[in-house]
Amino acid sequence: MGGEELKFVHDAFESNYIAPLGPQVDAFEREFAEKVGIPYTVALSSGTVAMHLALKSLGVGPGDEVFASTLTFIGSVSPIIFQGASPVFIDADRSTWNMDPNLLADELKLHSAKGNLPKAVIPTDLYGQCADYDQIQKICDSYNIPIIIDAAESLGAKYKNRNAGAAGCASIFSFNGNKIITTSGGGMLASNDKKLIDHARKLSQQAREPLPHYEHTEIGYNYRMSNILAASGINSIPEILPSAF
Ligand SMILES: Cc1ncc(COP(=O)(O)O)c(C=O)c1O
Repeated sequence: MGGEELKFVHDAFESNYIAPLGPQVDAFEREFAEKVGIPYTVALSSGTVAMHLALKSLGVGPGDEVFASTLTFIGSVSPIIFQGASPVFIDADRSTWNMDPNLLADELKLHSAKGNLPKAVIPTDLYGQCADYDQIQKICDSYNIPIIIDAAESLGAKYKNRNAGAAGCASIFSFNGNKIITTSGGGMLASNDKKLIDHARKLSQQAREPLPHYEHTEIGYNYRMSNILAASGINSIPEILPSAF
């Protein structure tokens, strides 16, 4: 904690916005988007649920396969199982400890020959080290497969002149107690795709239709970040400047 957090939490109590959603959630999402440079964000209760909503929003379902890194944390992989899909693990490159682009290319070639390409690829940025985004993107683009970056551990890191997570079709971050910043528990789903984030936001709020009464046409979850926890995250995102690296 940097010292300012208590003031923002106090302001949240003063405003009486205790329950999920409120101005502090909006402010945290806005600040995150600006500092990390990914325009659309939704603050959630954990990084694991951010990955779940990313997969669900991309239409991953029963019988599908999703490629993931061997060297990762279970939170980037268990949401594949939540969706009834199966993970296929791609081994690590010795120099980065992250998904080896050559092994990814080999496996995609094999799967393509069998006619069962994965629905998504999840490279993890392990211990603050970004995966080789450019190589992975090039390979996935040639098969038209979306990438979800697991940037849970890499907030503030750089890949070339980009911030960690600013790649692929979506990325997830964690604010668990052992992460770069913490809201005691929490996560963020970020994307350049407004539609994906709008849908994930709806799913995170029980998929309630925008009507005065309760109406649901799809199944959602209660995954939003509480306003109090969002308050504790405001101002703790480091200024991520290329010159610092
Ligand atoms: C690589 C990685 N992915 C996913 C997660 C899941 O995040 P959370 O604990 O917020 O659910 C974590 C951290 O816990 C992580 O280190």
